[in-house]
Amino acid sequence: MNTYLITGAAGFIGSNFVKYLLRTRTDLRIVVLDILTYAGNLGTLADDIDNERCIFVRGDIGDRRLVEQLFAQYKFDYVVNFAAESHVDRSIENPQLFLQTNVLGTQNLLDCARRAWTTGRDAQGYPTWLRGKRFHQVSTDEVYGSLGKTGFFTEQTPLAPHSPYSASKTAADLIVLAYRDTYHMPVSITRCSNNYGPYHFPEKLIPLIIKNILEGKKLPVYGDGSNVRDWLYVEDHCRAIDLVLHQARDGEVYNVGGHNERTNLEIVRLVISTMRQLMETRPEYRNALKHKPLAADGSIDLTWMDDTLITFVADRLGHDQRYAIDPAKIQHDLGWTPQTTFDVGIVRTIEWYLNHQPWVKQVTSGEYIKYYERMYEHRN
Ligand code: NAD
Ligand code: TYD
Repeated sequence: MNTYLITGAAGFIGSNFVKYLLRTRTDLRIVVLDILTYAGNLGTLADDIDNERCIFVRGDIGDRRLVEQLFAQYKFDYVVNFAAESHVDRSIENPQLFLQTNVLGTQNLLDCARRAWTTGRDAQGYPTWLRGKRFHQVSTDEVYGSLGKTGFFTEQTPLAPHSPYSASKTAADLIVLAYRDTYHMPVSITRCSNNYGPYHFPEKLIPLIIKNILEGKKLPVYGDGSNVRDWLYVEDHCRAIDLVLHQARDGEVYNVGGHNERTNLEIVRLVISTMRQLMETRPEYRNALKHKPLAADGSIDLTWMDDTLITFVADRLGHDQRYAIDPAKIQHDLGWTPQTTFDVGIVRTIEWYLNHQPWVKQVTSGEYIKYYERMYEHRN
């Protein structure tokens, strides 16, 4: 049986990954380590934590004593590090927290793994390692900076981050690679494009737009909406991590993306039209609406659900223009290709939100409301 330490798995991608592993593998044990920031919600894992196959520990990846104790207790075979401060806008507000969690937290995990997994030294002084161990770092395409109108990020593209978030993720990648080169630690890294899907915290573009439409609120588009992101359904990302973790050679870096570039304006328009179509064809979805004006005949009016909801607001500072991944390496080496097209994935995602309004309510109560007011007040 393999034991996994999965950090940050009360958040968006980590929780999807835990569910994916529990669904697709039998002989395993997962320990989730998550400090439960505003972005982490234990309710997301409520059906998964059973204290046998899936155990939850609340704590900080930067807490040396705790992480050492977990390594001693559970003898992990794999570490998959999702834990991070992940929102670019918040990193512009408070960069230091991003360095603390994303850089120092990652380094702490690496060091605890190094101590637990090394057995001695070889003739040249390099540590010798227990077999079958792997530290996997979940990184982002944002480490490569921003593209112009053409071209793609490959694994050879120089690292050139711009935001405090992406700079911290780059620093984390470099320290992971430093452990590979200095100690011959068995590591791997995936750099994925923007994910979307269930359990995405509604401060990120797609779930924020869905939430605002349900509330009849304006839809804030930064700048002129021409920035391009390369969107991937979260389960395809999970499958890529699974493949790299279990099948890639030690020390490899893989880009993950599905050639699905869209401008932000396209995304917002698509979400509006898809939601309206779903509400028109499946009246039960109108129950999710908080804003329910009535038409003259007493039925729920949906005519307001159109592009007039869009409002162009002040641009993000240092806003990267375009991200686009070249996934040739992971396709060639590991046979990975995305399975969910955007047309299917976006409907599935919107339907998930329409069916899980209590989850949205739970994760956005409290601190998030203050954040939203602060973040968008100065943009108007
Ligand atoms: P998220 O913000 O939804 O979740 C992050 C989780 O980490 C939360 O549960 C939070 O409580 C936890 N966490 C934060 N600080 C911690 C600490 N000090 N100790 C323990 N847990 C802590 O993020 P996400 O969107 O699921 O992203 C997960 C990872 O994937 C991140 O490393 C991110 O950089 C990377 N990534 C995200 C995307 C994307 O589109 N969302 C794309 C590529 C890569
Ligand atoms: P986001 O979901 O924050 O992801 P990232 O910054 O990691 O790519 O944003 C995706 C894009 O959408 C990005 O170009 C910023 C833009 N955006 C808006 O236009 N309005 C919004 O309210 C948000 C949250 C993002």
